[in-house]
Amino acid sequence: MVNNKALESWVNEVAELTTPDSIHWCDGSDAENTSLVKQMLADGTLEELDQEKWPNCYYHRSDPSDVARVEHLTFICSEKEEDAGPTNHWAAPAEMKAKMTELYRGCMKGRTMYVVPYLMGPVGSPTSKVGIEITDSPYVVANMRIMTRMGNVALETLGESDEFCRGLHSIGELDPERRFISHFPETREIWSFGSGYGGNALLGKKCFALRIASTMARDEGWLAEHMLILGLESPQGETKYVAAAFPSACGKTNLAMLVPPQEYKGWKIWTVGDDIAWMRFGEDGRLYAINPENGFFGVAPGTGEDTNPSALASLRKNSIFTNTAITEDKQPWWEGLSEPPAKATDWRGNPWTPATETPAAHPNSRFTAPAKQCPSASPEMDNPKGVPISAIIFGGRRARTAPLVYEAFDWNHGVFVGASMGSETTAAATGAVGVVRRDPFAMLPFCGYNMADYWGHWLSLGTKSDKMPKVFHVNWFKKSDEGKFLWPGFGQNMRVLEWILDRCEGKGEAAETAIGHVPTEDALNIDGIDVDADAMHQLLTVDAGDWKTECEGIAEYFQKFGDRLPEEMKRQHAALAERLGIKVTA
Ligand code: OXD
Ligand code: MN
Repeated sequence: MVNNKALESWVNEVAELTTPDSIHWCDGSDAENTSLVKQMLADGTLEELDQEKWPNCYYHRSDPSDVARVEHLTFICSEKEEDAGPTNHWAAPAEMKAKMTELYRGCMKGRTMYVVPYLMGPVGSPTSKVGIEITDSPYVVANMRIMTRMGNVALETLGESDEFCRGLHSIGELDPERRFISHFPETREIWSFGSGYGGNALLGKKCFALRIASTMARDEGWLAEHMLILGLESPQGETKYVAAAFPSACGKTNLAMLVPPQEYKGWKIWTVGDDIAWMRFGEDGRLYAINPENGFFGVAPGTGEDTNPSALASLRKNSIFTNTAITEDKQPWWEGLSEPPAKATDWRGNPWTPATETPAAHPNSRFTAPAKQCPSASPEMDNPKGVPISAIIFGGRRARTAPLVYEAFDWNHGVFVGASMGSETTAAATGAVGVVRRDPFAMLPFCGYNMADYWGHWLSLGTKSDKMPKVFHVNWFKKSDEGKFLWPGFGQNMRVLEWILDRCEGKGEAAETAIGHVPTEDALNIDGIDVDADAMHQLLTVDAGDWKTECEGIAEYFQKFGDRLPEEMKRQHAALAERLGIKVTA
């Protein structure tokens, strides 16, 4: 069936351990998908949506205890604990394997074992990589088909090579007590047991494309990042690309699919990716990015015609909805999509009306949609070379402190800005308002090795080229003293992106401050929006008191990394303290 000895022997080994009733090698064809969907409709895994309004769309309700990534059960099993670093959970590889082998023993009895070959990245790209996921979940297969280039195309790319990421997944009994998401970075393996949730079970995404790939990238001199990739085409027809990292719930998918405001006639936005970027130097010394994925696994709630019309257009057909609500006439529904239906069934399967106190859709309910269906899908999505990156943008949710936008002084300072990134928790989520959670490079849950070494890797890339992208930090969430958002966000973020592009071309007015170059108060184009001079002043203010607290918070965070912290990070921190005129050491 497949002419790859390493793959065949691994599949046999897994089959011996897990004892499935049958083995199915996925080819990724329409016929295969149709038959899997039929089977899942028959056994209740999927529910059919109105096929006229939602062609080829299906609904899935997961086990209520299995609706999100489980960071406390996610392990980096490097040989040495210090290689996982203080921000990851660690377990010794041999011990974890021994424990999980017992979980896997016989776990596929009565089930089919699916062998899912998948390619992360465009066909023919030197940056693309092959993964093989073995799973007992047909729901995972259907999702992987949307999220990756799955089936024969991956096997053809692999050929006889034994270089593929081995991912073993079983939903087990979906028992939270018997759930582990383990990564073995040295051997490029993933063992996932007990969860069917996307981030834990679609192993191409967070597990391979970020945790394992970040380790490969360190070893091979490239970058695997939690970043969207976006192209901005000017009215003159020139397109520039940016990559941007934001922690969850900070609008990554929205920015990736931004619709420019009406004042920006002639501008076009091109979506290359909404979650992950793999970047490598091109021959010209610039960083080129590919999106390793082929679909969007987006958070449904809050996605509406006004916030993200392109996401809505992307998910109208060939999509899977997980843990949203479903209306009586078989349409998916979630808070923020439209006026609430008079009656629906909520994500738990209970009757729901607008009077019900709990939300109809789980806050982390998801759509899985083919990326090419996005109206702003970039024609470069399949380009094996990737797209050249002019700017890297970091961002977080900060009610105070971080101005709307600023530019780092240089590459090393940019790495410091990424490393010290933070986002404030909200009262709704934690009960404590304004607590900064450090989420360096938005990679806190996704870095497959010691975060301090990861910063070292980023620093080292800066020595390899004199054409590194410029680095920026944005904050769409700054609030007035009265607690109101100062910036309108969404499509209006185009105005900030324009300034960023201008700066990349040596244009755009900026003032030098302690934290970097901040636009002067008349530098941003605010024609047509209601942001007055006072709001603009607040948006661009760098408050000395806030930054003193910030600088102390960064020092405390950096201390966690002990001797592993690169000297340059200490130097950058000291330089910030000095510019602020304070005394703190990391
Ligand atoms: C995430 C995601 O959790 O993209 O970051 O699903
Ligand atoms: Mn993500």
